[in-house]
Amino acid sequence: MKIVLLGAPGAGKGTVAKLLSDDDGSVQISTGDILRAEVKARSPLGEEARAYMDRGDLVPDDLILKMMEERLQRPDCDKGFILDGFPRTLQQAEALDRLLERLGIRLDLVVNLDVPKDVILDRLTTRRTCANPDCQEIYNVKSKPPTADGKCTKCGSPVVQRADETEEAILFRLETYNRKTAPLIGFYEKDGRLRNFSSISSRETVEEIRKALRTG
Ligand code: AP5
Repeated sequence: MKIVLLGAPGAGKGTVAKLLSDDDGSVQISTGDILRAEVKARSPLGEEARAYMDRGDLVPDDLILKMMEERLQRPDCDKGFILDGFPRTLQQAEALDRLLERLGIRLDLVVNLDVPKDVILDRLTTRRTCANPDCQEIYNVKSKPPTADGKCTKCGSPVVQRADETEEAILFRLETYNRKTAPLIGFYEKDGRLRNFSSISSRETVEEIRKALRTG
């Protein structure tokens, strides 16, 4: 499958992407996960991105586009990909269309996860993430807790709260989403590529996405 996942912070993009990638080996490409790994490694890209991310702002388009142009041409994308958190601005969406055209790739579907704001706020304040950059399993203290001593059930690394999960940063991320990313819904709606999914159950959403992919 070749799909884009759109949705506000906390809508469940990462959770849905992981479930879908188990289906057929399509690779989950999360720009947030890639950037957090760069920050942890203190790479030049990570050093530049850190301040934007910590306050909940978007990292500049030119940095993201350079990173994604390289990522989408790696051989593991041949099996399919799930773009989680990219594109996030109109400029990124237009650049993605140009890149895919150049590579001769057609998107199967653009998924919009449409989840109410109160559900999102609750999820973000209760989310925890595996600190191992190669794992990054997502937990939730209410719906999917880590082990009793706060370790990842998959790799045993500590499970932590992200730096952009303060109340201030969460509100800023939601505001940034409304201003810069929500317009992408109209961008993809106008040429018929977008489908809305509003279930608050990730498993139900994944079932509906599978059905949409089968029926075209
Ligand atoms: P990113 O990591 O992409 O963060 P985000 O979009 O804010 O999305 P989240 O990861 O917060 O949420 P999600 O929708 O994946 O939800 P999840 O599945 O975790 O980006 C971080 C930062 O990087 C950005 O702020 C920006 O600075 C930068 N960045 C990234 N991409 C960029 C780009 N393209 N351009 C510029 N800058 C970029 O679920 C949330 C919680 O809810 C979890 O605890 C989960 O367990 C729980 N949950 C999910 N679904 C359910 C359910 N159905 N029922 C119960 N609990 C659930």
